[in-house]
Amino acid sequence: MKLPETQVAVLETASADDATPVEQIAEETGEKPEAVTRAAFELQDAGLLSVTERSETEYALTEEGGTYAYDGLPEHTLWVGALSNDAVDEPIELGQAIGHGGLADEQVEIALSNFARKGMGTIDGGTIRVDPDFDLEADAERALLEVLRGDEGELDPDTAEETAVESLKRRGLLDELDFTVREVELTDEGVTALMEGVEVTETVGQVTPELLTSGEWAEVEFAEYNVEADAETVHGGRPHPLREMSERVTDVLVGMGFEEMQGPHVDADFYINDCLFMPQDHPARNHWDRFALEEPARMNREDIPEDLVEAVENAHRNGVGPDGEGYHSPWDEDFARALALRGHTTNLSVRHLAGLAEGDLEPPQRYFSVEKAYRNDTLDATHLLEFFQIEGWVMAEDISVRDLMGTFTEFYEQFGITDIEFKPHYNPYTEPSFELFGRHPNTGDLIEIGNSGIFRPEMLEPLGVEADVMAWGLALERLFMLATGAEDIRDVHGTLVDLEFLRSEEVVY
Ligand code: PHE
Repeated sequence: MKLPETQVAVLETASADDATPVEQIAEETGEKPEAVTRAAFELQDAGLLSVTERSETEYALTEEGGTYAYDGLPEHTLWVGALSNDAVDEPIELGQAIGHGGLADEQVEIALSNFARKGMGTIDGGTIRVDPDFDLEADAERALLEVLRGDEGELDPDTAEETAVESLKRRGLLDELDFTVREVELTDEGVTALMEGVEVTETVGQVTPELLTSGEWAEVEFAEYNVEADAETVHGGRPHPLREMSERVTDVLVGMGFEEMQGPHVDADFYINDCLFMPQDHPARNHWDRFALEEPARMNREDIPEDLVEAVENAHRNGVGPDGEGYHSPWDEDFARALALRGHTTNLSVRHLAGLAEGDLEPPQRYFSVEKAYRNDTLDATHLLEFFQIEGWVMAEDISVRDLMGTFTEFYEQFGITDIEFKPHYNPYTEPSFELFGRHPNTGDLIEIGNSGIFRPEMLEPLGVEADVMAWGLALERLFMLATGAEDIRDVHGTLVDLEFLRSEEVVY
């Protein structure tokens, strides 16, 4: 019998008495596991080999799990700390127990909640008392960590205590890895074939011009395709889900009659703040710690229209209208010309409303952008240093809060979000102002998704706008979290990104 090379190698290595894992055959033959798998299925089709499959689970400690496996679980450390301070009959201060155990700051919370969960004692109003009979040795979580700490790092899922596995997984101390093990065994036919002798055929995988012109194609044996064989998953490129979300938002807003704005990422504070009636000496000016530019540090005087500067300065000093009130505080043009990365994309709205982008605009108008804004925030599950803001505004003769709320309701409905909530808010440039909240589909938390309002005359008049303008800045990442259920924005982009999530997440609306 003649067979392709890999099949011959697999056939010769497989045994009729024992099931041999594909990996072992790959090692012995020097072939790749994928090639061995393919050959094994081909041999199975030919009746020479049988392939069995089973799923296996392997557990491995996460980094945090590894730490506790050696140092002990934080709740145990707390228990020991309290016990050695005699906190049995009389409670002691929590701080004393924590200090004694030497728990790291980030472990305190973990220690307290698990201490309570396991009933290791009582915690009440900043004091702690331990149950001296709690048996650390009998804690299944600890036992499991110790097994996994062993160099083999493997655990028999049949004997592992299921609840301990589940709770360690929930605590992020354990990773579960599911995979398929394939084993092969010679069939009787396979044994007969081997006894009669198998030889290697050169099979050809691809027709080449040479084969055709030489006429050799008629002699050679072509490799057969097994379209049912398992193959390794190939991950092609795809747009980032957040990018897709941004495109969906653009689609929705264009569908609602909005035009897109564009403008500078680095802008003068004048456009980022002063035109928004943000007083120069107000702490809100440094509200989002700015990313200021060193070089160039300021926008040139001639790049800002003189009459606009004058009008904005006048609004700050004296307010607008006959009974206008300004801030009665200093206003400095140099200060306004300082350059920074925009902390919001409202500078784009300002530039458009002032007629600096598309020329003078007559009502009605609707504009939006989905662009980056930059804030020197502390990175956490819901904050990044740069994020996408969905900026938008509508200019019309008569606008009320109902229009604003109706627009958001219609917009968020397109993403299946029907329970947004409004909270009164304060912005120097809008009156009234509203923050928007939405409920996270998994955690149930109410999260802030945007800020909005109706622009004040102190902002609009210097820009030369006579109609009403309602406006908003919504966070694309927050919409993404509500729409996809993502719980930590750092899973979505940045260094901690969850590749599996990016590969499989579908953005639908
Ligand atoms: N600039 C505001 C922010 O970044 C959003 C906003 C824009 C609010 C326009 C009202 C009007 O939070």
